[in-house]
Amino acid sequence: MTNSRIVGFYALGLAARRAKLAEAFAPQTPPELSAWTTGGLSAETADHMIENVVGMYSLPLGVALNFTINGRDVLVPMVVEEPSIVAGASFMAKLARSNGGFAATSTEPLMIGQLQVLDVEDLNQAAEQVLARKAELLTYVDAAESSLKSRGGGARDLEVRSIAESPIGKFLIVHLIYDVRDAMGANAVNTACERLAPKIEEITGGRVHLKILSNLSDKRMAKATCVIPVKELEFVARDVGRDNISTYTGKEVRDGIIAAYAFAAADPYRAATHNKGIMNGVDPVVIATGNDWRAIEAGAHAYAARSGKYASLSVWSKDDDGNLVGELEMPLAVGIVGGATKVHPAAQAAIKLMDVKSAGELAEVIVSVGLAQNMAALRALATEGIQRGHMSLHARQVAIAAGASGELIEKVASQMAEERIVRIDRAKEILKTMESGKRRATQA
Ligand code: MEV
Repeated sequence: MTNSRIVGFYALGLAARRAKLAEAFAPQTPPELSAWTTGGLSAETADHMIENVVGMYSLPLGVALNFTINGRDVLVPMVVEEPSIVAGASFMAKLARSNGGFAATSTEPLMIGQLQVLDVEDLNQAAEQVLARKAELLTYVDAAESSLKSRGGGARDLEVRSIAESPIGKFLIVHLIYDVRDAMGANAVNTACERLAPKIEEITGGRVHLKILSNLSDKRMAKATCVIPVKELEFVARDVGRDNISTYTGKEVRDGIIAAYAFAAADPYRAATHNKGIMNGVDPVVIATGNDWRAIEAGAHAYAARSGKYASLSVWSKDDDGNLVGELEMPLAVGIVGGATKVHPAAQAAIKLMDVKSAGELAEVIVSVGLAQNMAALRALATEGIQRGHMSLHARQVAIAAGASGELIEKVASQMAEERIVRIDRAKEILKTMESGKRRATQA
C-alpha cells in the first residue's frame, strides 16, 4: 500500500521527487509514471485527438500528498498553473489525516440524456403514453450493441417533464437515465438518445429536436466529509523576513472558517469565488486524468444554483465535540476508460498513481481534494489573508519570468518576498546582482 505522507518532498529537486515517487510504489512502480517526464502525449496522437493540430501545450503536474480517503492513502496528481494549490491541498490533507482523513461516497454512475420533443398536442397525454411504455423503450435502447452494455451499463429509467411556457411555446422533455459504468459516458448517452428519438416521436406524435446528455449530472454525485480536531487548526503566521507573528487558536480558525462559509451560503458573489476555490482542487485532478473539465465545471455551478439561488457547494460546521466538520457534495461525471483518459499516456499514469479501480472511486478522490482545497482557501482567508502565502510562490514565477534559473529562482524569490516587492523589474535587479556576485566568486 502506498504511503501518501512523503516527508520533505517539497524541498527535493525534480529528479529526486520522481525517485521518491517511484520508491513509494516499489517494488511495483507503475511504468506508466515515466510518461510525465515528457508530458506523455506524442504529436502523432495529438494530431488524432482534435483538428488542425499544430503543437502541444504543457502545464505543470504536481503530486498532492497526505491524502487518506476511506482509509486508503492516495497520491493525487494535479495539473494546474496556479501556485499554492498543490501545497494547500497537501497541507489540509495532513490536518484531516490526523483524524482518519476523508470519508467519501459516490452514487451509481447514472447520466441523464435529454430529448426535446416539439409540436406535441397534449403534453400530459404524451407524457403518460411515454411512461406507460417505459419498459419497452428501455429494452429497445438496450437492444443496440454497445461496449458499455457488455460492462454492465445501459438504460435504467425514463422521466418526463413538461415545459408549459418558453420563447417557442410548450414542449416535452424526456430524460433517459443511463448507467455508464466507468466511462464519462457522453458518447454512449448521446448515441442512446439518438436511438430513442424515433420511438418517442412515434408515441408522442411530436418532433424530437435536441438529443444530448445533460451536464447537470445530479444522479451521478460524489460526497466527501472530514472532521478536523480543533487543536489541529492552531496556527502561527510569521511574516517572511519580519518579526510580526500572529497566533490563531484552533477555535478562532474553526469559527473563522464557519463564518467564511456562511458568507458563501448567503451571497452569490462570494459563493462564486468560494466554489472557484473548490474547483481549484477538482479541476487539476480532472485534467490530470484526461477528463472533461468543462463538463465538471458546468455541472458543479448548475448544481450550486439548484435552489434557484447560486450558493456554496460545501458546508462547514462544528460537531458536539467542537471539531470542524466539512462536507462537499457535487455532481462528478468522470471516467477511467475511454476518451482522452485512454489515449493520453499521462492520464493513464494519473489513474495508476491513484490506483483507482472505478469511476466512482476517482470521483471520491476528486471530491475529497475539492473539500481540502476549499478548506485551504477558507483557512487562509479567515486568518492571515491569501496574499502572504501566495506571495512567495508568486515571487518564484516572477523570478523565472525575469530569467532566473536553478537555485537562483528560490534566492531571487525569497529576497523579493522579504522586501515585499514582487515585481519583474526588481527581480531583474536582484538577479543581476546575484549573478555578478556569483561570477566574482568563481573568478576569485
Ligand atoms: C483563488 O484561486 C481561490 C480563492 O479566491 C478561493 C476563495 O476565495 O475561497 C482563494
